[in-house]
Amino acid sequence: MKNSALLLGQTLRFTADPFHQPITQAAKHTRNGAVLVENAVIKDIGAADDLRRRHPQAAVTDYGDALITAGFIDAHVHYPQTAIIASWGMRLVDWLNTYTFPEEIRFCDPEYAAKIANRYLDLTAANGTTTFASFCTIHPTSVDALFSAAAKRNQRIVAGKTCMDRNAPEALRDTVQSAYDDSADLLGKWHKNGRAVYAITPRFAPTSSPEQLQALGDLWQKHPDCLMQTHLSEQIEEIKWVNDLFPDARDYLDVYEKFGLLGQRGVYGHAIHLNAREQDRLRETGAALIHCPTSNSFIGSGLFQMGPLMAARHRIGLATDTGGGSSFSMLKTMAAAYEIGQLSGTALHPAQLYWLATAGSARALHLDDKIGNLTVGQEADLVVLDLASTPAISQRHAQAEDFWQALFPTIMMGDDRAIRATWIDGKRVNQHSLT
Ligand code: GUN
Ligand code: ZN
Repeated sequence: MKNSALLLGQTLRFTADPFHQPITQAAKHTRNGAVLVENAVIKDIGAADDLRRRHPQAAVTDYGDALITAGFIDAHVHYPQTAIIASWGMRLVDWLNTYTFPEEIRFCDPEYAAKIANRYLDLTAANGTTTFASFCTIHPTSVDALFSAAAKRNQRIVAGKTCMDRNAPEALRDTVQSAYDDSADLLGKWHKNGRAVYAITPRFAPTSSPEQLQALGDLWQKHPDCLMQTHLSEQIEEIKWVNDLFPDARDYLDVYEKFGLLGQRGVYGHAIHLNAREQDRLRETGAALIHCPTSNSFIGSGLFQMGPLMAARHRIGLATDTGGGSSFSMLKTMAAAYEIGQLSGTALHPAQLYWLATAGSARALHLDDKIGNLTVGQEADLVVLDLASTPAISQRHAQAEDFWQALFPTIMMGDDRAIRATWIDGKRVNQHSLT
């Protein structure tokens, strides 16, 4: 039997990348729009009157003035850092040692891992995020916990076991062999299991020996359809540390390249302080750079160069980097990307911000054939936004002269109160109780 839902509201979808096509051509807004969801897939989209006529049997949910779009895609997060988000006063390496590593040690306990995985899924769903790419911890239990919890919700996620065999506390170190074997097992178990995607995950160059990086490069070569996620050039001190640890490498990116960890399906978090050679290699490779703006200001890392990198046609996604990032919200993340853009000379248009948080991140994760846009055939992961969710936003919204002016106050000032509904796999997800 067909299971059809007709959602009415304003709709926003993209027919092209608004960084390289005029906004009027790239973004399509429909004032009285509709989306037909059938068996977890978007089956039709258009004007409300037309869809009502074409699908008289569908169960109608009328969202009124609210905006229906693809759900948010957070392209770089650490779900194990949920409980230490907003930890004060440190730069990257001290922040890792002081807050992050002690918390990650706790994920050897499957019950704790399951509790935080579910809490993270609740918090992100409440913020309209339907897919994310997460680092786990070194413990296979932390990976099983997240994929199992996401599978119960039929949620498309990307995740992988974080590998580290040096420069971390003993309880958070694996070995060359166990990193390879555990990653291989987890990949076999989860990659393409339902909606799951596995990412081979060396944390970053300083916490892996050359041998471990090589082993993970070898594993990726054996499984080239997996993603590979890591960190790249986030802070100046980190880059100096990498240069000291790998004196033979030309630069930070070269470390990854030497060990087989540079590729088109590579996803590199931060990528702030890139030299010209690194930028060229990343572009030639088609690798993805993930901008994490709340994290970059929170940890004091620097200003991502969105304007020049987009002009050079890099593949770029957007992310919270929870819990180095200071929010679970992709709205807050778009606001921070706008502010960092302003500080580095590029005022990003609301269409560009929204594209980054949906279709751009989907493209960075090589999932744009499945999610990230309101197009027929895509999986039905949606967010419905109230564009007047607080008194402050509402009074600005009332002055709007066009759709972008109506949306921008929610991008800049919105939070989970703006999320009217989140749909995952064709179903409205009720917020689970927070644990
Ligand atoms: N570099 C290596 N590990 C991490 C992490 O957990 N968070 C951030 N922001 N940067 C990292
Ligand atoms: Zn990170």
